[in-house]
Amino acid sequence: MRAVVYDRYGSPDVLRIEEVERPVPKDDEVLVRVRATTVNRTDCGWRQGKPFFSRYFTGIRRPKKRILGSELAGEVEAVGSAVTGFEAGDHVFGATGFDAHAEFACERESSPLAHMPAGLGFEEAAAVCDGAILAMACLGKADLRPSRSILIYGASGSIGTAAVQLARTLDADVTAVCDTKHLELVRSLGAERVIDYTQEDFTQNGETYDVILDAVGKQSFRRCRHSLRPGGIYIETDLGFMWHVPFLALLSRWFGDKRVTLAIPQYTKANVLRLKKLIEAGKYRAVIDRTYPLEDVVEATRYVEAGQKTGNVVLTVNDGRAR
Ligand SMILES: NC(=O)c1ccc[n+]([C@@H]2O[C@H](COP(=O)([O-])OP(=O)(O)OC[C@H]3O[C@@H](n4cnc5c(N)ncnc54)[C@H](OP(=O)(O)O)[C@@H]3O)[C@@H](O)[C@H]2O)c1
Repeated sequence: MRAVVYDRYGSPDVLRIEEVERPVPKDDEVLVRVRATTVNRTDCGWRQGKPFFSRYFTGIRRPKKRILGSELAGEVEAVGSAVTGFEAGDHVFGATGFDAHAEFACERESSPLAHMPAGLGFEEAAAVCDGAILAMACLGKADLRPSRSILIYGASGSIGTAAVQLARTLDADVTAVCDTKHLELVRSLGAERVIDYTQEDFTQNGETYDVILDAVGKQSFRRCRHSLRPGGIYIETDLGFMWHVPFLALLSRWFGDKRVTLAIPQYTKANVLRLKKLIEAGKYRAVIDRTYPLEDVVEATRYVEAGQKTGNVVLTVNDGRAR
C-alpha cells in the first residue's frame, strides 16, 4: 500500500510517499481502508520530535513509528476473528494516534473508533476527533454550567472551533476571540459574543470571566489574570515559553485564588461516541479549511505549521469520497 513515511525528525520535507507492507489485522483488530485523514498539530509535534520528551514515545534518535496520522475516516476492509462490533463495509471514524497517513490502517476494536454518524462524509468525519478531544480535555477543567462564563482565545483554530461548540452544549456563556475574517464563522458556531482581536484587546476592556481558555497558545496567565473573576481558571493548550505552564499550574494551586491548568487529552472510545452523539444531534461539526490529496502531504503540513488554518486540514486517500 502507499503510505507517508519519515525516517528522521525534521521539517515537513522528511515526509515522503513509499510503498509499504499492507497491515494484517490481529484477532482483535479492524483493517480500515482509509478514505480521509488529517494533518494536525499533534502529527507536526511528533514529526519535529518536539518537545524533546515526545521522543520518549516515538524514539529518542529516530522515529520508531514511520507512519503518522492521528485521526481517520474510512471503510472496514476486514476484521479479526474476535471482533464483534464491526464488519466489512462499515464506515468508521476515530482517533488512531499514528498510522492513518496510509491507504490502510489496523486499529484495535477497543480503540477510539466508532461507526460514522449517518449522513457525514469521510472528509468531515476524519476531522472530528483531534481538536474536539483536546477541547474536551480543556473544558473538563472548566466546570462549565449555565451560570458560568468562558472566554475562548484563538477560536478559529482546530481546538478553538471545537471548544466554542462544546462549551455551548454545556450552556455556558461563551465569548470568543478571533480575527476579523473569522467573526462570522465563530458566531455561527454558537459564541454569544465575538471579539475581534485586531480591534480590541480583551484584557483591557474591563470584562471578567470565570474561565479563560487560550486555545492557540498565544496568551499568558500574566496578561489574562485581571480578566479572570476571583476563583477563575486559566486553561492552556501549550507548555509555554521555557515550559513554564506546568510550573505555573503547580504554583497556582498554593498561591492566589486563580488557577492555571494544562489539558491532557483522553483519546478514548467513550469520547468518540460522545462526539458522534453531538454530531447526530446537530450540536457539533468539524470545521474544515483545506483538503489535499495524500500525495500533497508536505504542502498540507507546511500550511498547518504556518499556524493560520481555520479549523482542520484534511488529506484524502483512496479517492476520499463517501459512497
Ligand atoms: N504538540 C501537540 O501535540 C499539540 C497538539 C495539538 C495542539 N497543540 C497546541 O494547541 C494549540 C492550538 O492548536 P490548533 O491545532 O487548534 O491550532 P491551529 O488550528 O493551528 O490554530 C490556527 C488558528 O489560530 C489563529 N491564530 C493564530 N495566531 C493567533 C493569535 N495571535 N491570536 C488569536 N488567534 C490566532 C489563526 O487565525 P488568525 O491568525 O487569522 O487569527 C488560525 O485560525 C497550539 O498552541 C498547539 O501548539 C499542541
